[in-house]
Amino acid sequence: MNFKGRDVISIKDFSREEILHVLDVAERMLPIAEGKEKSDLLHGYIMASLFFEPSTRTRLSFEAAMKRLGGNVIGFARPGTTSLKKGETMADTIRTAESYCDVIVMRHPQEGSARLAADFASVPIINGGDGAGHHPTQCLLDLFTIKREKGKIEGNSVALIGDLKYGRTVHSLAYALALFGIDMKFISPPELQMPKEVVEECREMGVEINIENSLDDIGDMDVLYVTRIQKERFPDPEEYSRVAGSYRIDRKLLEKAKKDVTIMHPLPRVDEISPELDSTPNAAYFRQTFNGVPVRMALLALVLGVVE
Ligand code: NCD
Repeated sequence: MNFKGRDVISIKDFSREEILHVLDVAERMLPIAEGKEKSDLLHGYIMASLFFEPSTRTRLSFEAAMKRLGGNVIGFARPGTTSLKKGETMADTIRTAESYCDVIVMRHPQEGSARLAADFASVPIINGGDGAGHHPTQCLLDLFTIKREKGKIEGNSVALIGDLKYGRTVHSLAYALALFGIDMKFISPPELQMPKEVVEECREMGVEINIENSLDDIGDMDVLYVTRIQKERFPDPEEYSRVAGSYRIDRKLLEKAKKDVTIMHPLPRVDEISPELDSTPNAAYFRQTFNGVPVRMALLALVLGVVE
């Protein structure tokens, strides 16, 4: 297993063993992520954080991960203040950034942009989300969260809920859960169903997929993975207003679920999860947010070749 110099573009580029290895390294990073232990593992390394699209958790947790390991960060979160504004291409922006750093983390609204960037960059590119495409690092932290909350990944039943059409986190997660043999329910309004190719791919991998339109039947689920309706990706605002607020997880719904159901959300939430659930032991979404730090530490240390 060799991670040094590798790009992290899609979770599909990882085998099950490689995923488990990243999660094991992340586990070892926990005391450093929590600030209980100090580390200089990435001292002298520079990460460029290039965010062409809004982000809170992905960018901050990557930056925290790098800094907790003694590394440095350069970058931008407001592309409007860079030479892109003067008409520079993304390709030239990437070529510029790579001459100043050892690894690039990027988020871009266009699907396929990270793969494209990896074609002309010689430093590793880590995809922090490419449009409605992939979000591999979120996927790894989601798996890490399931493992920590449930003790293991295998054997859980998972419902992916909300905007399964435009949500990149669920595109990555559905594939990864299928890789672990997990049966899934895909619950969304009919307009926002999981793309056919994702459903077919999961079924070909041998897992059972149930496609549903309502939250009536979640009583035997171990994990509810809730997502935001991706307003910014709707070609037609009318279409958005028809589905906005379709599903809401609240106390009443929790009563219908397993007592120890784990509620996850990549965040940001708009109104999909009632804040009254935040103080329940079922609400794992803020622990999930924290888990971004050890998982991203593990990835940075692996692709920079300082751990194996
Ligand atoms: C998600 C994203 O950007 O895809 N957020 C995240 O990275 N935690 C989910 C979303 O924006 O709804």
